[in-house]
Amino acid sequence: MRVRRARHECSKSAVPATPLTLRCVRSGKMSAEEMIMRALTVVPRQAGSLEVSEVAEPVAKDGELLVDGIALGVCGTDREIAAGQYAWAPPGEHRLILGHESLGRVREAAPGSGFSPGDLVVGIVRRPDPVPCGACAHGEFDMCRNGRYTERGIKELHGYGSGRWTVEADYAVRLDPSMEDVGMLLEPTTVVAKAWDHIERIGRRAWFEPRRVLISGAGPIGLLAALLGVQRGLDVHVLDRVTSGPKPELVAALGATYHTGSIPEVAADAQPDIVIEATGVPRLVLDAMANNAAASVICLTGVSPTGRPVEVDAGSLNRGIVLQNDVVFGTVNANRAHYDQAVRALGLADHAWLAGMVTRRLPLERAYEAFGQGEEEVKVVIDLTS
Ligand code: BGC
Repeated sequence: MRVRRARHECSKSAVPATPLTLRCVRSGKMSAEEMIMRALTVVPRQAGSLEVSEVAEPVAKDGELLVDGIALGVCGTDREIAAGQYAWAPPGEHRLILGHESLGRVREAAPGSGFSPGDLVVGIVRRPDPVPCGACAHGEFDMCRNGRYTERGIKELHGYGSGRWTVEADYAVRLDPSMEDVGMLLEPTTVVAKAWDHIERIGRRAWFEPRRVLISGAGPIGLLAALLGVQRGLDVHVLDRVTSGPKPELVAALGATYHTGSIPEVAADAQPDIVIEATGVPRLVLDAMANNAAASVICLTGVSPTGRPVEVDAGSLNRGIVLQNDVVFGTVNANRAHYDQAVRALGLADHAWLAGMVTRRLPLERAYEAFGQGEEEVKVVIDLTS
């Protein structure tokens, strides 16, 4: 990415000084004919480096689509990246364009690409490792074995947080035109589509007719996991600590039950056959593993903070898992098949319910506000068209 330093040009935006400084930057080396766009960028592993930069517009290579960015969802991973805890810039570059929950409209598509100008698209996040490992060679790049995968906006590839981006046609997913206001929810839906896919595959190790699922955390992942649970005809219970704001209503609108107690309390009544832990809070992770029905599947989706030890009776925990034939597994990312499953799930969902998950929309120059989310907030979206 060629970054143009233009600090003075953006002083008019009157962005208040915040811990996450937002400013434009200019570099002397761009040729006059290069088109410039704005992008949300960070210096990976450097807290406080988030800013709106002016960068050269991308040029689509063979096999790629040129896309006008519409919106970008912001998630916990983006917040970790902005806090300097995660992410890698592309080799040889200093800054990374942030953003992996994409939504855009195709501007240019080569004939035969399978796409046409005007199509609504989402870009897949992960790319297989170059070796490739056995999983990547089989299209299961979400299960990469050697860790050399790359990810748009996270690991060594620029993300989708810019006014224009390119994506290989093979890694673009078309959405119905009606999804223009909610299509940025596709990527988090792929993460839960994979979680459900694996829960069901694991369940098939023996007789499995689950009835109740307990989901801890009513953030975007927890709510979308609840949506897919309801679509499967299950009795869905969602646990969170907030009592006000849209979360309780979103859960109720699904026909699911909202709880604010502890996992042991809720599980004692609900006896869940499936637990999806979507907070990453260490105490809740342990509670999820210990409180469930016999032969349950416990799916961990939250990335925990490290360095906060909690006391645990490991013997008791292990005893419960072994004597009940439980399975505890972790899941991250999603492959192409999960994108297709997620498209179907969003298509079946109530559109107004999906729109209700988007609790705030911000123009790009106020993107920094998306990185200090309150507990009642669900999904903050950055508008890339403004
Ligand atoms: C993204 C995944 C990604 C993971 C780890 C998540 O926020 O949704 O696609 O694999 O972060 O980088």
